[in-house]
Amino acid sequence: MIVNGKKIKALFFKDNTLKIIDQRKLPFKFEIYTAKTVDDVVYAIKEMIVRGAPAIGVAAAYGVVLGRHDLIESYKKLKSSRPTAFDLFYALDYMLDNIKRGEKPKDIAKKYLNDIVNRCKKIGENGEKLIQDGMKILTHCNAGALATVDYGTALAPIRLANRNGKKIFVFVDETRPRCQGQLTSWELKNEGINHCLIVDNAAGYYLKKGDIDLVITGADRIAKNHDFANKIGTYEKAVIAKENGIPFYVAAPLSTFDNNISSGDEIIIEERNEKELYNINGKNIMPLWIKIKNPAFDVTPKKYVTGFITENGIMKV
Ligand code: MRU
Repeated sequence: MIVNGKKIKALFFKDNTLKIIDQRKLPFKFEIYTAKTVDDVVYAIKEMIVRGAPAIGVAAAYGVVLGRHDLIESYKKLKSSRPTAFDLFYALDYMLDNIKRGEKPKDIAKKYLNDIVNRCKKIGENGEKLIQDGMKILTHCNAGALATVDYGTALAPIRLANRNGKKIFVFVDETRPRCQGQLTSWELKNEGINHCLIVDNAAGYYLKKGDIDLVITGADRIAKNHDFANKIGTYEKAVIAKENGIPFYVAAPLSTFDNNISSGDEIIIEERNEKELYNINGKNIMPLWIKIKNPAFDVTPKKYVTGFITENGIMKV
């Protein structure tokens, strides 16, 4: 991705440390977090300094590099950092398998990062064919370069359509409570793509009004029957899109497909700290006696999905 005229990846390995664009600080501040140890990487994943399924996977791969002196302990710590995104487990197993074959951890992680970036580039090329000149597209959360190291999943086709001169407009769900929509807005602004941010509750209004032609989201885990987990709020967008006859596509690399589980019912949904709801930038925005639940993801049954955009093409379901 391009930031202030310079090409940069959301995370990169330099001087034996993992450098991560700190997603907690964006879009207000552009800062790089440096992970020197496996514990620093675990902290970065838990606190969402790095977030988004493919980017979490790449961070975990480098976590293994930083914790290679105690491989099994590092693997365990990383594995328990977040429960829902399948890429995390896929990346850890990829690291372990290749280390057993005698390859150097640093080389394997580099190969993994490049592989994810290439997959996302192909997702962009495949998904771009769905986007016609003048289309208005809705996306949820941030499935951009920040979430995948580069290009993005849902944002990759949008990025490419714009680069190819198609005039498009993007509706960006705010995505409470972590407001990943602001990250999407930041990426779209950097790319010069026309867009606006809407509160999550407004998506149904625009979908019904006929203001949206296409919905594209990412995914955190896709079951064998093609039910998929993604950021909380995705399910209701999918249902409303179907109700209004609007195509709903999910963009994800094959590293997000979990062939070990038969349906979405088996996906573990992360419950995050209630502080994410009541406290914004250090300020309490509601009294603390209010009871809160904070699920980070929901599962959308496959019947609401028009198709999956992967590196291998568009898979209609
Ligand atoms: O909690 P997050 O911000 O890590 O959740 C991210 C999402 O739900 C994304 O849509 C998903 O990981 C796909 S990212 C390419």
